[in-house]
Amino acid sequence: MDKANEVPLLSEQDIVLARQLVRKKAQETGLSLIDQTKLVTAASELARNTVVYGGGGTMNIAEVARGIRRGLRLSFRDQGPGIPDVELALKDGWTSGTGLGMGLSGAKRLVHEFELATKVGEGTCVTIAHWK
Ligand SMILES: Nc1ncnc2c1ncn2[C@@H]1O[C@H](COP(=O)(O)OP(=O)(O)OP(=O)(O)O)[C@@H](O)[C@H]1O
Ligand SMILES: [Mg+2]
Repeated sequence: MDKANEVPLLSEQDIVLARQLVRKKAQETGLSLIDQTKLVTAASELARNTVVYGGGGTMNIAEVARGIRRGLRLSFRDQGPGIPDVELALKDGWTSGTGLGMGLSGAKRLVHEFELATKVGEGTCVTIAHWK
């Protein structure tokens, strides 16, 4: 318990490595194949946002427990521009760039817990958790 790993998210290669780490931890935690894939997909979207919009940052992944329930908590943190309108950013199809605008909203639907903390000019931290 309380085992945490922090990895950099600065490049496309870092996103690949982060995905692999999430997959490995999800397997170790005993998540079903479908839950592993949900978590990896959500993590991949958030990691990409950290790199593309946040100008890079980190992913922290920790094994967590709530009673006998085990799970994983992941935080994606950057010190980028922040998100001025969170409600808008969470809308399906809204993008400030050239994406599909499905990353945040999709990630939110895929996991059990989703929290977005952001401040313009300071950065963004998205925390998700998924339970076995
Ligand atoms: N870490 C971040 N820092 C600053 N802005 C962000 C961050 N993450 C998301 N955003 C903003 O929220 C918008 C919506 O993000 P979302 O991931 O849903 O869509 P997208 O990245 O534009 O497209 P997609 O993920 O579908 O390729 C982004 O276009 C961007 O403006
Ligand atoms: Mg995105």
